[in-house]
Amino acid sequence: MKIKNMHKDRILIIDFGSQYTALVARRIRELGVYCELWTYNVTKKQIKEFNPNGIILSGGPESSISHKSPRAPDHIFDIGIPILGICYGMQIMTIQLGGQVSTTNKREFGYTQVEIVKQNQLIFDLQDITNLSNKKILNVWMSHCDIITEIPEDFIAIAKTEHCPFTIIANDKKRFYGVQFHPEVTQTTQGQNLLKNFVHNICACKALWTPINILDNTIESLKQTLGTDKVILGLSGGIDSAVTALLLHRAIGDNLTCVFIDNGLLRLDEANQVMKMFSDHFGLNVLHIDAEKRFLNALDNIEEPEEKRKIIGQIFIEIFDEEASKLCNVQWLAQGTIYPDIIESAISINNPTCVIKSHHNVGGLPKNMQLRLVEPVKTLFKDEIKKIGLKLGLPDSIVFRHPFPGPGLAVRILGNVKKEYCDILRYADSIFIEELHHAKLYNNVSQAFTVFLPIRSVGVMGDQRKYDWVIALRAVETIDFMTARWAYLTHDFLAHVSNRIINEIQGISRVVYDISNKPPATIEWE
Ligand code: XMP
Repeated sequence: MKIKNMHKDRILIIDFGSQYTALVARRIRELGVYCELWTYNVTKKQIKEFNPNGIILSGGPESSISHKSPRAPDHIFDIGIPILGICYGMQIMTIQLGGQVSTTNKREFGYTQVEIVKQNQLIFDLQDITNLSNKKILNVWMSHCDIITEIPEDFIAIAKTEHCPFTIIANDKKRFYGVQFHPEVTQTTQGQNLLKNFVHNICACKALWTPINILDNTIESLKQTLGTDKVILGLSGGIDSAVTALLLHRAIGDNLTCVFIDNGLLRLDEANQVMKMFSDHFGLNVLHIDAEKRFLNALDNIEEPEEKRKIIGQIFIEIFDEEASKLCNVQWLAQGTIYPDIIESAISINNPTCVIKSHHNVGGLPKNMQLRLVEPVKTLFKDEIKKIGLKLGLPDSIVFRHPFPGPGLAVRILGNVKKEYCDILRYADSIFIEELHHAKLYNNVSQAFTVFLPIRSVGVMGDQRKYDWVIALRAVETIDFMTARWAYLTHDFLAHVSNRIINEIQGISRVVYDISNKPPATIEWE
């Protein structure tokens, strides 16, 4: 079988810090074209090596007028490949090529109508409505204070708004384009078609980045890299490590050993389900390490959330290290790192901001281990991993399961973690999730779980006074988990879940529902 090179056609996205840059990358990938996201200080050599068919300059939070604000590498305008500037990216392209940008008091933010004044390849066949003068109109989403007041030489205006004469600009000869709005957000209804015109027609990229090509290419390249070497992987049962495990298993079979560490902080029956799925059903080598006591002992009397995270991460590495050293001749450590992890760490290296919660701290690279690192899904976004997971035969119950934090129930039990609390919480959580499934609401919410509040409150059951613990229900809707809205579950539904939890679980006297958005609250309580 001849495997198609899915990386042949590619787009480089230069990131100026917009909150939507990763979304641009996802949109390009959805069009079947491989792309990578690099920060604006990418070097000439790196761009040459990457050899893109086209470049996209992202939006950014800064004012392009400020002399201190970042610029695109100047030489990209001389390579002879198409460039699309989005918002800030359009403005700095304008400035760098001799045009002018000014601050306006007519800020455009949110939904805006754009009138097309000239036809062009970038907007070929695009239209939402026509206005009274029979001009084509696009409904777009804007977010800017500065506007272009003078376009560079050889550019023409393609579209305008009431306040901005240059909302889309083009230099067809050089194939440079700029859009003041954000084509990557769904509010710009023709946005994906505009990006399609750019990558498929203007940059001539073919749609080679498909789930089946990703699968075949990845397995083939793992076979070539690993040969007959042995690999060890920490399997959590989450989608990233599950897909990593199955890809490796397809490539190297029994030379893969997975280590599944049950830290006692998992959901109801989770360890059993992971073993059944990966060991019995898929036939992987999985070592099941029951380490509940070790984790709970180490967490005894630890109240501070970041300290809990650190301890859990540390013990995880210790156990993994111990198990790895028992195996002979292992040369590689596999990790389920995904593309957003790489983007986030690149951003945090360039722009160290304060850490709100230290994520990705469980399953780090064991120190002193002389292993090489293999990360089969490190160029994939979550939605791509899910598609690959389905192709590999993972069931919906794993692929579409809500995310679960590495430190598990430890960050859902406020303060001190005890086995008694874990058992109560696991049970409450399973009732909530079961009812969400019954009511067909599970897939409508992005994440749902219960939280154990170590406070006692008075209740009455039969003629007996109770003085028991409190459970909070948390359910949120979100696209990217950076912001989230609490889910508007119906009163009837909440009443039913609350009744079941209080009636079926010993030790609970009260159930509350969390109605806090993120920000300012976070999704997890710790
Ligand atoms: P927050 O609570 O920061 O959560 O709003 C955003 C998303 O991240 C998950 N989360 C974690 N995942 N280790 C993880 O692997 C952690 O320490 C951790 N803390 C939060 C959370 O479940 C949500 O999906």
